[in-house]
Amino acid sequence: MILNQEQQELLDGKKGAAMAKVVKTLKMYGDCFDAEKMVPVTGDHGHLVTSFGLSVLKPVYEIMDELIAEGVLAKQSFSVDPRPTEKNVPANFLQNVFFKVMYSKQNMYEQQLSKLGLMDESAFTCTCYETEVGNQPRFGDVLSWAESSAVVYANSVLGARCNRNSGIIELFGSIAGFVPYFGLLTDEGRKADWIIEVDTTSKPEAQVLGSAIGMKVLEDVPYIKGLDKWLGTELNDAVCDYLKDMGAATASNGAVGLYHVENLTPEAKAQREELVKEGAAVYRIDDAKLARIQANYPVIWKDPAAEPKMCFIGCPHLSSLQLKEWTNSICDMLKQHGQKKVAIPTVFTASPKVAEKFRKTSEYQSLANAGIVLSSICPLMYMNNPLCGKMPVITNSNKLRTYTTARYYRDEEILEKLTKGGV
Ligand code: F3S
Repeated sequence: MILNQEQQELLDGKKGAAMAKVVKTLKMYGDCFDAEKMVPVTGDHGHLVTSFGLSVLKPVYEIMDELIAEGVLAKQSFSVDPRPTEKNVPANFLQNVFFKVMYSKQNMYEQQLSKLGLMDESAFTCTCYETEVGNQPRFGDVLSWAESSAVVYANSVLGARCNRNSGIIELFGSIAGFVPYFGLLTDEGRKADWIIEVDTTSKPEAQVLGSAIGMKVLEDVPYIKGLDKWLGTELNDAVCDYLKDMGAATASNGAVGLYHVENLTPEAKAQREELVKEGAAVYRIDDAKLARIQANYPVIWKDPAAEPKMCFIGCPHLSSLQLKEWTNSICDMLKQHGQKKVAIPTVFTASPKVAEKFRKTSEYQSLANAGIVLSSICPLMYMNNPLCGKMPVITNSNKLRTYTTARYYRDEEILEKLTKGGV
């Protein structure tokens, strides 16, 4: 890789040993992918995936200490993924003890993050691109992010440019202010290897469609046809929510970092089929395929017939509109079933700023009256330990299903389970 003079000087130690290591790491990373040069990061803010003070992450804390001691701070302030726990999320005595031990470095780590350039105390969310949070990249911005659900959203829906980086590497890009130029940063890397033909008789469930696409194309770029029939051609709030959830499933059930939706997402609208590589493979998705995919999700509960003990909605975090819609649907269904409260302890997760805004609305009181907790944790962090992993948890998130023991149900199935009573 050819570095410019300024980058070379940094590598040679002009700004100290810690900065030299940052640049050396970025160069090695770029060399792995045959990157020819570095390009400036242009987004206003970074985003970090490592949000949790896990006691075993000692090397991460040492890196942070070294950077802070040498004053090597992020050029851009950054948001960070959600916190792992919060007091209002139901947990028994043993689980609480476990969380305390497991995340014993949380406070210390958050202090490190704020010294390094954390946007503010409420910047803990994976949906940093929601307008309330204030970290929404512009079309064409080059980013240094790693959170897979945020990367795929920024690339596909906003038209920003970001590779699927790993944790800490993304921080190094924010510190140096440049990243290696390869993959999804290049015009060629943003072209589609696959044409996905959506041929369903109704609007497909976002989470299952994303799962089907991700499992087929893995890390390739798909160009999705036929979805504009159900979503229209404008990126309004509801459509963005759909694409957020579909994208998170493509990124976790596969490793998709960018998708295009014909007549809808910005690059597909501008370039149309010029975005599709010659000889792209074709994959058709119909109702039967989606049903088969969902039926094949493994159920890894110890007792598959167990009654659910908990339900998580909001992985990735819910938007303002989704919070409102879920609340209204649950309240309507509770009324229909003659119930007052949900039958399963339920947690909705949304970014601290979206949650704060929602707490001021009349719908929030209805949500609380239905017995639902509104939190800003990451459900995956909550679930990923032996005690919570044993619990029969249900979710409408394909990402949470993929990485934990949680069992997936479609939105209408979850609604029925929560509101019918008698569980
Ligand atoms: Fe967000 Fe955690 Fe899910 S980071 S996408 S809530 S796994």
